[in-house]
This record gives sequence, C-alpha cells and structure tokens, in this order.
Amino acid sequence: MPERISAVATAPAPTDHSGILTWVEEIAELTAPERVVFCDGSREEWDRLTGELVAKGTFVPLAAKPNSFWCVSDPDDVARVEDRTFICSEHESDAGPTNNWVDPVDMRTVMTEHYRGAMAGRTMYVIAYCMGPLDAGEPKYGVQITDSEYVAVSMQIMTRSGAQVWEKLTQGTEFVKCLHSVGMPLTDGHADVAWPCDKTKYIAHFPESRTIWSYGSGYGGNALLGKKCFALRIASVLGRDEGWLAEHMLILKLTSPQGRTHYIAAAFPSSCGKTNLAMLEPTLPGWKAETVGDDIAWMRFGADGRLYAVNPEAGFFGVAPGTGAKTNPNAIATIEAGNSIFTNTARTDNGDAWWEGLTEQPPAHLVDWHGEDWTPASGTAAAHPNSRYCTPIEQCPSVAPEWNDPRGVPISAIFFGGRRATTIPLVAESFDWAHGVFTASVLSSETTAAAAGKVGVVRRDPMAMLPFLGYHVGDYFAHWLAMGAREGAQLPKIFQVNWFRRSADGKFLWPGFGDNVRVLKWALERLEGTAEAVRTPIGFVPTSEALDLDGLGAGYRGLIDAALDVDVDEWVRELESIDEWYATIGGNRLPDALRAELAALKMRLAEA
Ligand code: GDP
Ligand code: PGA
Ligand code: MN
Ligand code: MN
Repeated sequence: MPERISAVATAPAPTDHSGILTWVEEIAELTAPERVVFCDGSREEWDRLTGELVAKGTFVPLAAKPNSFWCVSDPDDVARVEDRTFICSEHESDAGPTNNWVDPVDMRTVMTEHYRGAMAGRTMYVIAYCMGPLDAGEPKYGVQITDSEYVAVSMQIMTRSGAQVWEKLTQGTEFVKCLHSVGMPLTDGHADVAWPCDKTKYIAHFPESRTIWSYGSGYGGNALLGKKCFALRIASVLGRDEGWLAEHMLILKLTSPQGRTHYIAAAFPSSCGKTNLAMLEPTLPGWKAETVGDDIAWMRFGADGRLYAVNPEAGFFGVAPGTGAKTNPNAIATIEAGNSIFTNTARTDNGDAWWEGLTEQPPAHLVDWHGEDWTPASGTAAAHPNSRYCTPIEQCPSVAPEWNDPRGVPISAIFFGGRRATTIPLVAESFDWAHGVFTASVLSSETTAAAAGKVGVVRRDPMAMLPFLGYHVGDYFAHWLAMGAREGAQLPKIFQVNWFRRSADGKFLWPGFGDNVRVLKWALERLEGTAEAVRTPIGFVPTSEALDLDGLGAGYRGLIDAALDVDVDEWVRELESIDEWYATIGGNRLPDALRAELAALKMRLAEA
C-alpha cells in the first residue's frame, strides 16, 4: 500500500489494483483526512457507521421500524442543483446547449483548491461498487471516495458494493473515479454539524476521463455518485460510444390474466411517477405487475434484436410525499421491512417517519423536516416536498425475480411522460420509431421539487434526461435514431402518457396510480394488434371504448374524453415552444429526421 494511505488506513487495502491505490493516495494527499477506511459493505460496517451518525446527531434511530434512521439535511441542501452541475468535456460543443460547461482544466484547478484539506479531521471512505448485476458480461464498476458516513451507508443500499466488488476489481479493471466531499473540514477544534455541507457546490463530470468530482452537497442526487452522475451522465457517454442507452426509466414486468408477460420501460422527469408506476398494484382483476427498476435503465440489443434493460441500482431513493398505503402499498411494505434511511421527512412521537399523503389524517404532533415541533395547525408542510426514503429493492414485495438477471429483460414498449395540466392526452401511440423519438425529444413537464429552483414551470425535458445528459442533446437524438436503424432491430413501440392532465377547475382528469394499468393494457393490446385507436395529428389515441374502464371510479368516467382529447388549438400553441426548443439545439446537431418530423406534425395539425 502506498505510504500516505498506510499511515492513516485503519486496515490493509482490500485491493492491489495499482490504479485505485495511486488515486486514493493522491486524493488523501490533497484532502488530508484523519484516516482512510476501505468499505467492505458488511452489516458490521453499517452498524458502526449508523452508530457514528446517531452519536453525531445526524441520524435518529426509528423505534417503529427495524434498523431504520431519520435525518434532516441542511435546509439549503435538499435537492439536485442543476445550475451547479457541469459537463466538463474537452470541447464545449460536446456538452451542448443543455449543459453547463467549464473547461476541464479550469474546473480541476478551481475544484482542487476546494478539495485541498477538505477532509481534515474526517474519515475518508473508499467504496467499491458495481452498477448492475455483478455477473454481467461487462460489469461497470465505480470507486467512490467520500468523507460522509451518510453517503457510505446510503451507497450500501443503492448499489452492489463492498467485499464482493473489491474481489472483482483486479489489477487493470476499468472503473469510474468518483470523488465526493461535503466540503466542511474539521480544522482546529471546528465542531461538526449534523449535516455538513458547503454553500459552494460543484457536481462536475469529466466524460473523457470517466471521472466525477462532487463537492459541497450531501443530497442523494449530488452525492451518491453511482446514481445520476455515473449511471446516467457518464453512462450516457459510454452508451453513445459503445452502442447502448442509459436512460432515466423505470422497468416494469406486466402479466395479463391470460398469462402473457411483457416488460416495459418508462421515462418521466424526477417526481413525475416512475417509482409509483414501477410498483403499481393493478386495479384490473387478474393483472400482475412486478418491479425491475424504478429510476434508471441501461438498455442494449440482444442477439435476437430486442432491446434488453437492466436496472443498475440495488435500492430505491423514492419521493416520500404522496406515498401511502392507497397509492403505493408496495413502497410502504418495502420500507416497513426496515433497513431504510428517511431524509427530510417528518418524525412522529412514537419514532416513525411521516409525510404528507402517508395517512389521511396527520398525527397531532410531529417533528418537522426543520427539526421543529409541528402540529396540524402549523400551516406548513411537515415533510419537505423532495423528502426521500432510501430502501433496498430486495425488500419490495413486487420485485421481479429478473431484477438481478445480468441479461436484462426484453422491452416491448417504452413510455414517455411528464406532468402537464393541459395539451398532452392520457396516452398516444407513436406512428413509428422516428416519430416516437421525435415525441420524446420534445417531452415536456412542469418542474418539481426534485431540483432546486422554481416549481411548476413547463420546460422541455427530452427523454426526461435534460438534467442527466452527459453530452450534446442533438448527438443524443442521433444516437436514439441510430439505435432504431440498427439492422435486425426488433424495436419496442413508443407511447407518450400524461397522468397529470387537469380540468379547468384544477382537478386531475385521471385517477392515476393503480388505474394506470388500464393505459398499459391498451398499449399492450396495440402491440398485439387487438385494440382500437383513432389516428390524430400526434399519434394513435384510444377510442374511449378501447380503454378498459371496468370498475373505474364513477367520477372519472365522465372525464375520459377530456383526458384523451387532442385539441388542435392547444397543439398549435405547443408548436411555438417546440420551435423555440429546437432552435436552441443548433442547426448542425439537430438530426434532419427530427426536423422532418416536426414539419410533418405541423402539416397534420394544419390539416386537422
Ligand atoms: P419519480 O420521482 O418519477 O419516481 O416519481 P414518484 O413515483 O415518486 O411520484 C412523484 C409524485 O407524484 C408523488 O407525490 C406521487 O404520489 C405522485 N404520483 C405518482 N404517480 C401518480 C399518478 O399516476 N397520478 C397522480 N396524480 N400522482 C402521481
Ligand atoms: P426521481 O429520482 O426520478 O425518483 O425523482 C431522483 C432524481 O431524479 O433526482
Ligand atoms: Mn430520477
Ligand atoms: Mn423515483
């Protein structure tokens, strides 16, 4: 082991991978931690670190759930920070118009000064992890250095990590270098706080050198670097280079009453329904839904020409508010099994986590996400709208046995959706792959609390990947088109959905959640050629008879036509903002095929 690490390491390094050891040495030199711990991912390690977090006042053990902890963050560290997220490609044009770009040399210079001495008085953890099944053909490894115990225990839930991965990381094995510091050194008696972080934050990605540097935040999407940073931003670049797709998608297995199984993938922006759809309890009798993944899908072609999807994660980092026994019983059962971390929810007097939507009536007294006393009379939300539970996928009652299959599952249909009060119908089927890619390229949604900034503003979020693209959005569209043009490809059908359309008085036109199976059923029947549809300018929309509405709440039956409506005037208005969006992409990078799709849509709307 190199000298500087052996001087401070608590145990011999579990690897002789010289690339890892040299890098750890270099970072230890720079950040000056008090000690270095190579994480083994064991239960003993979990107990030790959660114990330290309790002692520090970060974690409160929850009496009502086994092995579970509650914590609140700094009030300024509650979500992803898109304006502090950077794609530092060598050429600015490779980052494209949707990313913040800084020259990689400049970014390294600036961030190096932030990292210098940043871990003083703290422990530096070295976490080896694998995104996706360990026995995959080409497993994708990461090594994360962090000075946060919260991050170390969360990575145990969210990834396959520890001794089993160290064993595989033999000399020369490629890995993504992930460096994270909360940016609060404990120099000269500087006391620690429950949620250390820095006002200044950087979430920087260096695609060419497969490196991630994160500084100043402890929030999941900014700090658990396997998730958004690696599995989406860096992986999207790997996918471009290697001919596959890294997408912001849930993966769901659906079996019909006749025993026919289909796997589907669906991309919705953050806080727009992925986790809920991934765990739905179908309201249609005889249908079975099983969960493969709830946030990220890596998809590559199999020998049979079909697109196979793998969930690279091992846990759920789910939005708490709105999650209840009625809306998502599987999520509730998953967290009831314990071994979970709750961040920025409220806490009950009997030692449980609580949030808006968990129960119809709030408890009479809570500790809210600011750590203050709360009663129903307080008039504030007790849980932050982006409060999260972090829990192992294996505890989910609806988990599909295939979730850990290195071959992945063959995808029959892809759904793109967002949160739109108007315009976008409940469901529409694309005419073909290119039209589907076009539809996804202009996907839009109202912004949510999952990212810092204004909530409720409509923005274009192509493929629900706007905050997660590691390269130029125009090249990304070209990559999607090229995937579809691959020889022998047996492509999934593409649909767009909108669970969030509202009536003029602001009420949802569709009940959502378990009733979404009705939409999925229609889509699968379209694949099988048995469901009716009307051709509209934007795609095939079900006739109201074609949707199975048996047992649908009476209040929603009368709203179905409004939910399915394709209003030409609304769409003509929509075209303006689509034009604006395409204009930002830049003429030479926007594929001609998409420009042609837009022209064709305009024509169809003009003729409608
Ligand atoms: P994710 O961040 O994309 O995984 O989204 P979630 O599944 O966690 O849902 C985010 C929020 O949207 C939660 O408050 C959910 O209760 C709510 N939500 C999810 N699905 C639906 C739906 O079908 N209809 C409605 N109205 N709300 C939903
Ligand atoms: P979400 O994941 O998509 O479940 O909200 C976290 C995020 O996107 O920040
Ligand atoms: Mn997400
Ligand atoms: Mn989710």
